[in-house]
Amino acid sequence: MSARPFIVAIDGPAGAGKSSVSKLLARRMGFALVDTGAIYRCVALMARREGIAFDDDARLGELLGRVHIHFQVVGEENRVFLGGEDVSSDIRTPENSMAASQVSSRPVVRSGLLQLQRRLALEAGKGAILEGRDIGTVVFPDADVKFFLEANPEVRARRRYEELFQKGVESSLEEVLADQLKRDRDDAARAVAPLKAADDAIRMDSSVIPLSEVVHKLEAEILRRMAAR
Ligand code: DC
Repeated sequence: MSARPFIVAIDGPAGAGKSSVSKLLARRMGFALVDTGAIYRCVALMARREGIAFDDDARLGELLGRVHIHFQVVGEENRVFLGGEDVSSDIRTPENSMAASQVSSRPVVRSGLLQLQRRLALEAGKGAILEGRDIGTVVFPDADVKFFLEANPEVRARRRYEELFQKGVESSLEEVLADQLKRDRDDAARAVAPLKAADDAIRMDSSVIPLSEVVHKLEAEILRRMAAR
């Protein structure tokens, strides 16, 4: 049995169900959950608060040294703390989503956050679930199991819209869909670590399978691989 925590990579576009599935899986398995999108969102929030342009690599690079993030499960939620401040709502506004997509295209930001993402996972006891865009391809190419969750754009936009609505963020379904399509295009087209399924990822479409069943299938596969490790 290896000493390294069991690493689960869950990648896919916005609204594919990664967050809900990861949260449930982490709870059922007793694994740590590393929401890497939240980390990019925190960098975007800091840049916005400090008036740093999203392509100002020098200032973004300097900012990275000051990113102190931790996650804490409170009730049903995986809350995100930036320097001790609970920023869980602030990082999920539509403006900050677009900003996160932009800062995440800067190589200085991606390379600067690699160690943080790896450390958060490797500090976990039994195992860690990392959700993002490039976990299986870049952050942990040797993850113990990789999943790539997809869903058609309308289903994904509706999920994101309902999530925002519940959080009291005003938006329309059309706006959410348009923002999401732009973000997906940008995330998939960027030069460094674009959104892409790893060759050895198990792909699953959550528009045709209910999320509860997705969780079931993923859990079964994780247990199978843990037994074989
Ligand atoms: O998963 P999310 O919607 O919270 O992610 C916000 C943005 O961060 C997303 O548009 C792309 C970027 N991101 C990334 O580039 N790489 C990751 N591993 C996770 C997120």
